[in-house]
Amino acid sequence: MNATVIDFLLSRKSAPIPELHEPAPSDEEIATLIRVASRVPDHGRLAPWRFIIYRGDARFKIGALLAKRAEEREGPLAEARVEQEKARFARAPLVVGVVHCPRDNPKIPQWEMLLSGAAAAMNLVIAANALGFGSNWITNWYSDDEEGRRILGLAPQERVVGFVHIGTFSGDAPERPRPDPETLASEYSGPWSG
Ligand SMILES: Cc1cc2nc3c(=O)[nH]c(=O)nc-3n(C[C@H](O)[C@H](O)[C@H](O)COP(=O)(O)O)c2cc1C
Repeated sequence: MNATVIDFLLSRKSAPIPELHEPAPSDEEIATLIRVASRVPDHGRLAPWRFIIYRGDARFKIGALLAKRAEEREGPLAEARVEQEKARFARAPLVVGVVHCPRDNPKIPQWEMLLSGAAAAMNLVIAANALGFGSNWITNWYSDDEEGRRILGLAPQERVVGFVHIGTFSGDAPERPRPDPETLASEYSGPWSG
């Protein structure tokens, strides 16, 4: 058993996004993150995912577009809310979008492709932590909005798996209650009968 990996996984937790600061992962570290994220189970080797890097000024351009879109959807917004939308992608120095790219395949259903994307996002979260960074996987309203997805660079047929926020984290994230593992697994006891 690799006790180090198990201990690492047992203590893993997300960092609060407002506490993710510069420095961001370097280009070389980002390349490593993408290598790890794309090394996931993928039925039929379809690579039904891709990654979008958001950093630098792009984060502020996105913020302005999201604020405008939020007002289109909801009507005039209070200044504080406008500022919140403008800052969406600018809180962490790096955001990696994990994008589900459905492939036409006669044998492999799209839900399996989406699950492979979730595995990619989780690998990305873990790899960022392993490189010493904090990370946090979110989706938010713009993932569920066609125009929001367009603003973020997705094609009409694509869907968001997550926006993984990454940065230097020097604090200690609060522990949150975890489900009791003993209540989660049971021996198979025959077909479900209600
Ligand atoms: C698919 C997915 C989407 C999420 N979207 C959001 C979100 O939009 N906003 C949010 O505050 N947290 C969201 N979360 C939860 C954050 O990832 C949360 O910080 C995390 O679950 C904390 O758990 P951890 O410490 O085990 O990583 C999402 C989680 C998943 C798996």
